[in-house]
Amino acid sequence: MPHVYISHSGADPDALLQLHEALRAAGIADRYTTGEPERMGADTEISAAFAVIVLVSAAAVRSRAVRQDVETAKALGVPIIPYQIDKARLNGFFKTEVQPLLRLSSSMEDGLEQLIAETQGAYRRKCPVVAVMNLKGGVGKTTVSAQLSGAWQEVNGGRVLLIDLDPQYNLTQTFYSMEAADASSGVDRSVISLFERSRLHAKDAASPAENWLSLTIAPFTPAPRDSFVHQILGEDGPPGRLDLVSGQFEISKYAFANDRDALAAIKQHFLRTIDHYRSEYDLIVFDTNPNATFLTRCALEAADRVIAPMHADIYSLRGVRLLNLVIRDQVEEAKRPALSVLFNAVNRNEQSTFEGDARNGVYDQIAGFPLSKSLMTAALPRSAHFAVKAPVDGQPPWRQLLVHAGRGGGLKAIRDSLKQVALELKNLSEGGGSGH
Ligand SMILES: Nc1ncnc2c1ncn2[C@@H]1O[C@H](COP(=O)(O)OP(=O)(O)OP(=O)(O)O)[C@@H](O)[C@H]1O
Ligand SMILES: [Mg+2]
Repeated sequence: MPHVYISHSGADPDALLQLHEALRAAGIADRYTTGEPERMGADTEISAAFAVIVLVSAAAVRSRAVRQDVETAKALGVPIIPYQIDKARLNGFFKTEVQPLLRLSSSMEDGLEQLIAETQGAYRRKCPVVAVMNLKGGVGKTTVSAQLSGAWQEVNGGRVLLIDLDPQYNLTQTFYSMEAADASSGVDRSVISLFERSRLHAKDAASPAENWLSLTIAPFTPAPRDSFVHQILGEDGPPGRLDLVSGQFEISKYAFANDRDALAAIKQHFLRTIDHYRSEYDLIVFDTNPNATFLTRCALEAADRVIAPMHADIYSLRGVRLLNLVIRDQVEEAKRPALSVLFNAVNRNEQSTFEGDARNGVYDQIAGFPLSKSLMTAALPRSAHFAVKAPVDGQPPWRQLLVHAGRGGGLKAIRDSLKQVALELKNLSEGGGSGH
């Protein structure tokens, strides 16, 4: 889960502590840096924040660090929520940059509650990032990524970005031929450009895809969305926006790399780039690989929520158990995504036994966490409609989405269940769901 950054002068520890406690009570993660003037790491924390709260005081007005925080937030487009904690008169920089945004103060009777409510509002406005993940193969991660994204867009409208983070790139091949996918990655118009500077960012850059032995850590500005993504809902297709960042095999090189510092920088690039695209979409979905690698960690740190598709069987249960352990071990608590488990490919018979038992908590102990509480209410049935069909030459990619195309008996029921999962996901993202 992303955090709110608190900018303060260092001379207002009581107000800082009070705010920190109130945010904690509301379940909002916060960050602040202490010890003016060094501001160690403040820019990084601000760039990863969904909002910056500025504690406005006489000391803050004189503080170089607070001024720098405000400048960084403005430059990065991070929303600023000022909160006045004493009778300071604002002048100069603060008068022009902060005063126009200032509506709340501790002298108001419910000032702190309003501040918390506004912070929560800023968090919810932020586009949710969902990783579809299970450490078991073949449970429907790719199918769910594609079909659920299509259904979410159809039900809720808005703009959805699908990112193929699996080096097998099956998701990309759901929509495009292998040749088209490879042609796209041939010019770095593909997932590798989320991690490293590439020819998509600069004409004279080397292709990181051809560079198996070394990693590029040069910083880059995220590519403009229209030069990067593939639009699945085309001009002649259904309205709305569902875009794909196409996948490729070469991102598997990160699993073999042993330069820890370079990998840390590359992960940071990925997180920043995802954050950048967040402002241009209403939902971002990752399809992921079934084993725990560097890519898993990147996906988990960027995501607010993991959706784990699971079959109604004991092997899938094991995959979910491992997944929960990986989330716990690999991601620090404040950044940990919530986990939602989605029954996929259940048939009637299993529904009455395994699924029912799981919902009643029978498997909570084996899972190692309260699985019954993490289960999504909606589920996807087993159906031949979900079977992968290679894209047909000349046919637009949106025809692969079950909410929009397909023929045959039972399709309406499939569409309804997809839409139910989409609605439930939307509700969870808007705060209906508990943290991990
Ligand atoms: N609800 C369903 N009903 C019937 N078949 C399904 C269903 N969901 C997925 N499938 C089929 O199961 C197979 C595996 O699905 P998919 O490729 O989505 O799994 P995955 O978890 O992404 O696999 P991998 O671990 O290899 O990435 C595919 O043939 C797919 O069509
Ligand atoms: Mg897959």
